[in-house]
Amino acid sequence: MGGEQKSLRVGIAGLGTVGGGLLNLLADQPEAGDGRLKVTAVSARDRTRKREADISAYAWFDDPCELAASPDIDVFVELIGGSDGPAKRAVEIALGRGTHVVTANKALLAVHGAALAALSEKTAAALLYEAAVGGGMPIVKALKESLAGTHVVAVSGILNGTCNFLLTEMEASGRSFEDVLADAQRRGFAEADPTTDVSGTDAAHKICILGAIAFSAAPDFAKATIEGVDTVTLLDIRMAGKLGYKIKLLAKAERVGESVRVHVHPALLPVAHPLAQIGGALNAAMVDAEPVGRLTFIGRGAGAGPTAAAVAADLIDLVYDAHRPVFGRPVKALKQRGSVGAAEQGRYYVRLLVHDRPGVIAAVSNELGRAGVSIESFLQDPGEAGADVPIVLTTRPGPRQALNAAVDAIAGLEVTAAAPRVIPIEDGAGAPRNWS
Ligand code: HSE
Repeated sequence: MGGEQKSLRVGIAGLGTVGGGLLNLLADQPEAGDGRLKVTAVSARDRTRKREADISAYAWFDDPCELAASPDIDVFVELIGGSDGPAKRAVEIALGRGTHVVTANKALLAVHGAALAALSEKTAAALLYEAAVGGGMPIVKALKESLAGTHVVAVSGILNGTCNFLLTEMEASGRSFEDVLADAQRRGFAEADPTTDVSGTDAAHKICILGAIAFSAAPDFAKATIEGVDTVTLLDIRMAGKLGYKIKLLAKAERVGESVRVHVHPALLPVAHPLAQIGGALNAAMVDAEPVGRLTFIGRGAGAGPTAAAVAADLIDLVYDAHRPVFGRPVKALKQRGSVGAAEQGRYYVRLLVHDRPGVIAAVSNELGRAGVSIESFLQDPGEAGADVPIVLTTRPGPRQALNAAVDAIAGLEVTAAAPRVIPIEDGAGAPRNWS
């Protein structure tokens, strides 16, 4: 395209929240991309569905793959979703024939990113995806472009707004996960089928992508360790609060020697931790990188306007022919970094439910001592005399294996009333020094 003043002919597949938002945004901002973005064709499941945007001026395709194959578009915008099926087929068709692709599809990139990046390079078609991670929060280009001169140590984030909303509501209202989820579904804040969100899968897709860019490695979704918010109880939120922590769904990609660890799980964050302060449906990403130190991005991770703005930013890059390799470096330069499993070392929160009778604490601490687990703090909720009571403790840094052995032994004690709950503590230490 270069310096020619040609318009970029845009074909959009998927006219849901984001697709509709993109049509509105481009209609509201005709000067975007120097006025050189022209939607020419669209595809969606149902042509007759009532829509806010008038689509009568665009060529209609029932099949997104046919739109992707059309010689009359310069860029295929994929807003269908899903790691496989029509989204993948259509993106492969577009890239295969040298048509640029802009997508918001995190699942597709996390699972098939390396193969799609190779295809993009083969045909010199761009594959851009700012909207796939953090919606309107600009983290993809920040890592790929603005931070390309840094050495990233870790990327941590709150990357699923639904989960963060549910945890925030549980804490604020004192209601159970099930109650808060049902309410959020009624009010349209959670999907009718919330599985991908609450299971941690959506956040894992996103952190796999950020990890790939940050560490110049192909995304490796199969190796991510994932636990969602569906296991978080109000009791743990309350007890963590008494100890000065918030429970958040933490998504993290970090260097471990020559490998990368990608994990998503509930974690206790000290209230002063930058990510502990992110409430409601907001997203946040915290990048620790030398020599810049710690950077925190906060923004709207979903919604028509913010996500459409991220798609539009990618389209504008294409207007000016400004784009990098898919994961920041050419595929052949991506490192073969193995992925490693869950952290084996750290500080942990342990919550027990025990019968309220003399000698219980001695029995519990005896098992911890035997396994070599050092207790950092200990708190018993007074509860009601005679009822089972929660005991929570936090550990000094130590091996998870030793803690597991102690917890297994405690679970088998006659005084234990329910399975113990262990949650890692993320203290936010380890920020790289700021070089001057
Ligand atoms: N469902 C996601 C969330 C937004 O709740 O954050 C799109 O990835």
